[in-house]
Amino acid sequence: MTAPLRFKRVLLKPLAELDQQAWRRIHAHFRDPEIAYLNGTAPNRMPLWLLKRILKADSRRPDRMTFGIFDELGAYIGTIELYDMHQDEATLGIIIGERTHWNRGYGPEAIHALLKHAFKDLGLQRVKLSTFADNLRAQEAFKKVGFIEMRRLKTPAGRTDVQMQINRNAWLLRPQTDRQRAAEL
Ligand SMILES: CC(C)(COP(=O)(O)OP(=O)(O)OC[C@H]1O[C@@H](n2cnc3c(N)ncnc32)[C@H](O)[C@@H]1OP(=O)(O)O)[C@@H](O)C(=O)NCCC(=O)NCCS
Repeated sequence: MTAPLRFKRVLLKPLAELDQQAWRRIHAHFRDPEIAYLNGTAPNRMPLWLLKRILKADSRRPDRMTFGIFDELGAYIGTIELYDMHQDEATLGIIIGERTHWNRGYGPEAIHALLKHAFKDLGLQRVKLSTFADNLRAQEAFKKVGFIEMRRLKTPAGRTDVQMQINRNAWLLRPQTDRQRAAEL
């Protein structure tokens, strides 16, 4: 059993522990055309019961870990996951689905909570991600946590993928004040 994953204002809860209210918000986030565009998918049109069944089944895969993100008031604000976990690396995905919480630092806090788990508990050596070049907010947020850009690739759909990664050592050695370091112990 893993200790609750927290960092500053956010708490990450495994998908299996989410209540119906959180699932209704996930359903809304997956149907949102802007969020779908940012993720390179079409807006999801499934009924809630089917989406829930599929995401729960996906989250039980051994190469995947999916969490709901909660703010300091206990409100559900999005999802974050590690997928394609193979040997010592994984890929990270995040959706802060509540626009009220964009540009307020919740994304980097949730990523930090998950990287701490990835590097300290799971022993991963590298976490990768990809985002679209026009998603400047995402790139800024990922850079704040220490991700660095590795390459850009054209997608078959004509968009540009920015591939980023962070290594365990870079994360452990990231610049921190003594107070930040103490708060994390
Ligand atoms: C991407 C996401 C995880 C970022 O999390 P967040 O909590 O909003 O990120 P932050 O609060 O750190 O804000 C990002 C930074 O980008 C900046 N920013 C926002 N829009 C920007 C733009 N168009 N151009 C340049 N910088 C921008 C913000 O000012 C902020 O920087 P600051 O804190 O120095 O002011 C979150 O917004 C999200 O999930 N969005 C919807 C789905 C999505 O895009 N997922 C990622 C797919 S790969």
